[in-house]
Formats: sequence, C-alpha cells, structure tokens
Amino acid sequence: HKLNFTLASASKGGYSHFMLKEIHDSPLAVKETLSTMMADDSVDKAVKVMSQANRIFVVAAGTSYHAGLIFGRELNMSGFTVIPMIASEYPSYRTRAGDVILALSQSGETLDVKMAIKEFKNEGSTIISITNVIESTISRESDVKLYMRAGPELGVAATKTFVSQVASLLLLKSKILGEKLDYLSHAHEVLEASLEGTEGQMKKWSSTLISAPSMYYLSKGVGLPMALEGALKIKEVAYVHAESYPAGESKHGPIALVSEGFPVVFLDPGIDELKVNIEEMKSRGARIFYVGTSKGISKDEVEVRLEKGLEPFALAPPIQLLAYYVSVGKGLDPDRPRNLAKTVTVE
Ligand code: AGP
Repeated sequence: HKLNFTLASASKGGYSHFMLKEIHDSPLAVKETLSTMMADDSVDKAVKVMSQANRIFVVAAGTSYHAGLIFGRELNMSGFTVIPMIASEYPSYRTRAGDVILALSQSGETLDVKMAIKEFKNEGSTIISITNVIESTISRESDVKLYMRAGPELGVAATKTFVSQVASLLLLKSKILGEKLDYLSHAHEVLEASLEGTEGQMKKWSSTLISAPSMYYLSKGVGLPMALEGALKIKEVAYVHAESYPAGESKHGPIALVSEGFPVVFLDPGIDELKVNIEEMKSRGARIFYVGTSKGISKDEVEVRLEKGLEPFALAPPIQLLAYYVSVGKGLDPDRPRNLAKTVTVE
C-alpha cells in the first residue's frame, strides 16, 4: 500500500501549506509563549532594566518592526520614551549609556539587527532581545535574552511568530506599567474566535483582490501596525501592491489615487473616528473591506471580537488569511515567495 504523503506534507498537519497551518497554530504559539515567559526570571530583569531606561530603542525589521510599533505606542502613551527603528536605518540614530535596546527578531539572525546592536553596544547601551530561537546569534550578543515559544516557523511569512511577539511585548509593557496580567490569558481565545469568524469571509474577499493591482490598508491607533503588517503580508505572498498609512493621512495626498472600485481594507480597532475616513473613501468610489465591530459599513464586512488591550489578536487572523487566500487564488506558493528568504543575512 503506497503512502501518498511526504514527511514535509505530514508536518503541515493536513493543511495545504505551512503558512495556513502556522496561522492556525497561532493560539497555541501565544499560549506557550505567555506561559513560558511568565515563568522566566529574565523577564523581570528586562522589565527592571527598561523601567529605569533613559530611552528604549526598539530595533527590528519587517514584521518584527510592526510588533515593535505596538509596544512603542503603548509605552509612549504612558509617558515612556520608546523609539522603534527599522534596523537597517541604525546609522541615523545615536544612543548613549542609560539607553536600552530592545532587539526583536524571530530568527535571531537578521544581519541588519545584528549590525545595529553591535553599534549600540559600543555606544554603551544595554541590549535586551526577544527571539524565537534559543541561543541565536542575536540572543548571544544580548545582555538579557528573552524567548518566545512559537515553535519553528517554516513558511517564509511570519504569522504565528508575529502574534507571539505581540504577546511577549504586551506582557513586558504590562509589567513595566504595573498592570494586571489577567487580560492576557484571553489572547488565545480572541485569536481562536477571529480565525473561526473571519476565514470564510477572507476566502470571499480574496476573489476580488486576486485581480487588484493595488490597494490600501488603513487604520488608526493600535490598528495601524496591524494595517502595515497586512500590507506587507499581501505584498510578500500574493504580490499585490499594498500601501498602508494612518487613515487620517488620506486627505493629505494618497486619496488622489482612488477611483471607482479601488480596494481599501479598513481595520477598525474600535475607534469611532475611523468612520469619517471610511466615508471619505466611499465617496471617491473605493471598494471598502471592513474588519471591526460596527455593522452596515459595507457589503464586504467581517465582525471580530475586540477586547481592550487584545485588539491585535482579533485583527491578525484576517490580514494573514487574506494574504494567504489571495496568494493561493493566484496559483502562487505562499510558503515560498519569490525573491525572499526566511532569514535575511545580507545587508
Ligand atoms: C515576515 O513575513 C518577513 N518575512 C520579514 O519581514 C521578517 O519579519 C524580517 O525579515 C525580520 O525577520 P526576523 O524577525 O527573523 O528578524
């Protein structure tokens, strides 16, 4: 009797691609990450160092940078000085003793991040890292090593590791701010509900976006890093030109590009002010795809369960699933996008 599966396909756990499996592994990855980090003494060390920091520079690339934006926003709103930077832009920044570097890298091997932390270490800054790989180069070069426990990620696109990064960063920020941590125990449920509640609709939306040459991904506040990530994901695996910027910026230029049927995905993290921006796009003929809790916004809308502080976990599944289904709908291989490597070890 011939077995018609290979080892590689078996490890996809019945899913057609690693990306889809890994998206569905997100709740478990987040749960594991949080329980491991809650028991890790290094977390308290990192919290102490960051609480006393002059400034915190978050150094990361790509998806990891988007996770860093969420962390930066939360702490900046509470009076800390957090500066998220794209690692390759490190020559534009100067640090000094008393500053802390938080390096975020799934692989722990990204060259841009390595170069940045080397430079900042020389300037006297303390380096804290969060990676998904034990004893990665970046963790070895750090003063405090933290780990998420998302498990190996084989698809080129970061999916479960992104939400795990967000979970680890929310844990850190809540500890820094002295907040209760109970809310985090719902993170995996919010992810599960969103996976369940949005997948069918993302398949439907994908059929329209397959033929779109260009689109916008808009939001505000905590939704903005998610919109940036949504645009990166759909560029990466589905080769759709997608731009993301704060929704309030449309009137300052980008709306000029919008004509009848131009696709705009709005991620609503529960902000009333977004409605004005949606109306503005509608009146120019844009085709609105709405993710949020309001009803009757557009014929293409999907409801997610938003819990305060956990909005990224409701918004991550639809952006990742949408990119996946557009990719598959175009006959592409979402696990192996052209021109990209999982770990970028070149300048
Ligand atoms: C994510 O989908 C991308 N493949 C890419 O942006 C990635 O996040 C970036 O290269 C950073 O990788 P790292 O987290 O391993 O440092």
